[in-house]
Amino acid sequence: MPVLATIKDVLIHLIDPWAFMAVSFSHIPATIRGLIHDRNYRALFSFTGFREALFGTFWATVGPDVKTNGEQRVIPLLEGRVKGGVIHDDIVSTPVYGTVIEVGAGSGMWADVFARFRENANNTDNADGLRNRKTTGGHITKIYGVEPNPISAKALEKRVKDLGMDDIYTVVPVGIESVDDPSAWNGKIEPGSVDCIVGILCLCSIPEPEKNIKLLYKLLKPGGHWYVYEHVKVWRGGLLLSLYQRK
Ligand SMILES: C[S@@+](CC[C@H](N)C(=O)[O-])C[C@H]1O[C@@H](n2cnc3c(N)ncnc32)[C@H](O)[C@@H]1O
Repeated sequence: MPVLATIKDVLIHLIDPWAFMAVSFSHIPATIRGLIHDRNYRALFSFTGFREALFGTFWATVGPDVKTNGEQRVIPLLEGRVKGGVIHDDIVSTPVYGTVIEVGAGSGMWADVFARFRENANNTDNADGLRNRKTTGGHITKIYGVEPNPISAKALEKRVKDLGMDDIYTVVPVGIESVDDPSAWNGKIEPGSVDCIVGILCLCSIPEPEKNIKLLYKLLKPGGHWYVYEHVKVWRGGLLLSLYQRK
């Protein structure tokens, strides 16, 4: 029985990355249709543009499942119930508050969660995943959703509007490397002006992470907080995943 279980584990680990890529490739026709519909021929005939569009289409399908899996950790993290990587019943650190940057916001998958933390949000109803308490402790007053993928940024814009968050949520349609550059987008995030940074499964997509993490850090006020929920290196992922994740 243990031998059978090991064989099954190995097979799953071998097949998983290919299945994931197959799901991604299966979005190619929808991506082409979307770009033709939007008359975005520049992206259609450019490798980078098409890759971005494919990722945006792919994540719109895969993202909700990833979010469902992540909620049990991300919500306590934002509620200030995580310390030393352990989830607690009570608040043990600082809940997300004030002016927030959501890095790599994607199509706004987490915007509904942020809505529950906004100032004066009514959190007494037992919304999915949130505990039935009067307040989560966090009071968000302003969010910058940084998202350079044009397909995702457009979806994010719509999602924020649908949730009635557009009064406090600004979509920043550039990479984090350009958020303080007013010539790159219609605004500027000043260094030392942000209370909290939230990054959910995005550091794997961001180029030059070491440089850009330093850049983001400079945007935080002294004593600000950074909430990170990321992919990490698997330690029982099989040969393919180890190769894929090698430095
Ligand atoms: C795996 S997705 C996660 C999206 C979202 N956080 C979620 O959980 O649904 C990573 C995101 O990072 C974005 N990204 C890529 N390069 C970036 C950059 N330079 N600055 C900010 N975000 C970036 C991608 O466009 C993508 O939307």
